[in-house]
Amino acid sequence: MARVKPVQDWATDFDHADPAYNENAHQIWDELRATCPVAHTDRYGGAWLPVRHDDVAAVARDTDSFSSEGAVLANRPPRDEFVSLAPIGAAPPITSDPPFHADARRLLLPAFSPQVIAEWEPEVRRLCNELLDRMGDADVVDAAVQYAQHIPVYVIARMLGLPVEDSDYFRETVHLVLEEIGAEFGERQGGFEKLDAYLHAHVQDHIENPRDDLIGFLLNAKIYDRPLEQQHIVGTIILLLVAGIDTTWSSIGSSIWHLAQHADDLARLVNEPELMPTAIEELLRAYAPVTMARMIAKDAEIGGCPVKAGENVLLAFPAANRDPEVFPDADKVVIDREHNRHLAFGLGIHRCLGSNLARLELRVAVEEFIRRFPKFELADKSAVTWSLGQVRGPRQLPVRVLQRS
Ligand code: HEM
Repeated sequence: MARVKPVQDWATDFDHADPAYNENAHQIWDELRATCPVAHTDRYGGAWLPVRHDDVAAVARDTDSFSSEGAVLANRPPRDEFVSLAPIGAAPPITSDPPFHADARRLLLPAFSPQVIAEWEPEVRRLCNELLDRMGDADVVDAAVQYAQHIPVYVIARMLGLPVEDSDYFRETVHLVLEEIGAEFGERQGGFEKLDAYLHAHVQDHIENPRDDLIGFLLNAKIYDRPLEQQHIVGTIILLLVAGIDTTWSSIGSSIWHLAQHADDLARLVNEPELMPTAIEELLRAYAPVTMARMIAKDAEIGGCPVKAGENVLLAFPAANRDPEVFPDADKVVIDREHNRHLAFGLGIHRCLGSNLARLELRVAVEEFIRRFPKFELADKSAVTWSLGQVRGPRQLPVRVLQRS
């Protein structure tokens, strides 16, 4: 349901919570790149939207001028009630600035190393097949509702040591944090308090019954030779839930959405599975799901445009990935693209810490879907719906199965 005033002019009044934004994102970014490459809105206390690759990269690198405390651009409490949590922020390390950021990030690295993540492959593959089995022999299946949305939520709940049966609640949480951004802050506060209480209870349970999972890992971790504060642990769990779920769900959905409309790419991937690594990178580039936000910490400029402290920036990595100055045929999916230094996982100090896991889930999800359904197409283009806000992906995606193995 649209909660915001519909946008008439994307250059001067953009709003990422308008459903038209994610539905038409590629076209909006292309038009802005040609006419107004650093767009502005007065909404959300004022925000800028650079869409050229080099401007996005420059903001991501300049952590002095652009603070990560405002990683999600949403309606916040009024300025006099806003309590800054800098430099740690609400969900470290993504909301943390230097120097604290490096320490909060470093302690998480061992849990997401390629070796640790590779061990999850059989489990992800088993889950994908279980979801495909559950679809039975229906002619039309929803690749978002019945497939993509379940994979990352199951994996991150299992990794953290949270009950998989609470998956609906985790998706609700993601909706609260990332999609309800146009609501007044007060309307969302109850939801944040409930989440905080839920996670504190699970952390307490892990203290009483120690387990070998990510919450156990965080409880044993140290920063500056001291155990992490409980609020740091809970903030990091929120980050891993939110960063882990919506992002990969969106990537899997967008990839299937593409293949459902490009029978040639689908046939090549089925017949030439050795193309999978470049295809996955290309799908990540072309349908990058994640835009992050920054709060402007001091007066600066973006692409020659002066910007004021106190306003915000939407850092549209997905728009940067479609800049024809950097990527030839940027608007085409070239599944054997050789040079592909895309920004789907961001760049600089906050570059995605879960990229090994994201790539594993995306690859296995696509491999198993096309193995089971070597031919499929969109069942009804107009029935496809898209998420709201900074993470872009299909939320309903009916596809017609034309061949099953
Ligand atoms: C296709 C899926 C994913 C995409 C496209 C993606 C994208 C991103 C991007 C663009 C950033 C940079 C944020 C910034 O500059 O502010 C980021 C950071 C992060 N991501 Fe991911 N992500 C994905 C999946 C995951 C998964 C599965 C996890 C872990 C469960 C994860 C954990 C993180 C963390 C912890 C950070 C913060 C790193 C830091 O601040 O140092 N992500 N991600």
